[in-house]
Amino acid sequence: MFSPSKINLFLRVMRRREDGYHDLASLFHVIDLGDTVDFVPLSPDAAHDELTCNMEGVPTDESNLVIKALNLFRRRTGAQQYFRVHLHKVVPHGAGLGGGSANAATALWAANEAAGRPATNAQLLDWAGEIGSDISVFFSQGAAYCTGRGEVVEDVAPPLPLATPLLLVKPLQGLATPAVFRALDLAGRSTADPRGLLAALAAGRSVSEACVNDLEAPAFAVMPELAELKERLAGEGLFDAVFMTGSGSTIVCVGADQPPAFLQEPGYEGTFVAPARLIARPPGEWYQPALLRA
Ligand code: C5P
Repeated sequence: MFSPSKINLFLRVMRRREDGYHDLASLFHVIDLGDTVDFVPLSPDAAHDELTCNMEGVPTDESNLVIKALNLFRRRTGAQQYFRVHLHKVVPHGAGLGGGSANAATALWAANEAAGRPATNAQLLDWAGEIGSDISVFFSQGAAYCTGRGEVVEDVAPPLPLATPLLLVKPLQGLATPAVFRALDLAGRSTADPRGLLAALAAGRSVSEACVNDLEAPAFAVMPELAELKERLAGEGLFDAVFMTGSGSTIVCVGADQPPAFLQEPGYEGTFVAPARLIARPPGEWYQPALLRA
């Protein structure tokens, strides 16, 4: 199954909560860059899932969100089915693209299909929110205004044409979400009203003004070379907007998808560079591989 990823077109951090999380107000959009996750049901005497992955460094034990999702699905539905799962990763880790989160969403979807759909989309969305903060968006229609930790999902009309070219640029080094939140200085945030940002995008106003991310400043504090990369990409004059997604370290460039020549220079070895497009579909449809880049 195809397991897409996401970008945050804007991300406002509204407040720090008692439980240590932060309330967000963010426009998430599912994109067509994704992994492939194969699920093969194991025989009834299997007592655990078997997970393999093409990418080194990805945990294949119970700490992987895919296994957490399958465990939660079995607990909630009483289903007994275990799976052999192979993860073919394309989406980099520590990228702010929600790759691991999407794999968990895909696992919930696959387990539900295999069990004859005992759960509704609303239930899958709820369970997604129990596993992590940015899994629920993968049960939206693609463009979603997300609040709470990120798990409260409101479908919205896609704010940009789906054909808008995007270029994703991620330095070799990734960023860990908790470290970026720890470096966040709440006093340094933008003051933009998130509903206003949503309205500005919907009205076709300047993308570069609406695509604010309150996690850029802390991410740049943790990783100063990311600020330079953003400056350099913006300085090319090729893109309508250049901003960081999620807690980084991917920089999203909107309006063109040709990599600038400087990315070939020494110092940029190992940089992940990929064109992408926004996708919007009824929940779950994008898990069908035939729809990949349709
Ligand atoms: O929910 P998830 O496991 O993705 O979150 C990882 C970490 O990121 C949390 O432990 C927390 O430190 C931080 N976080 C946060 N506020 C959010 C989402 C994540 O502080 N809304």
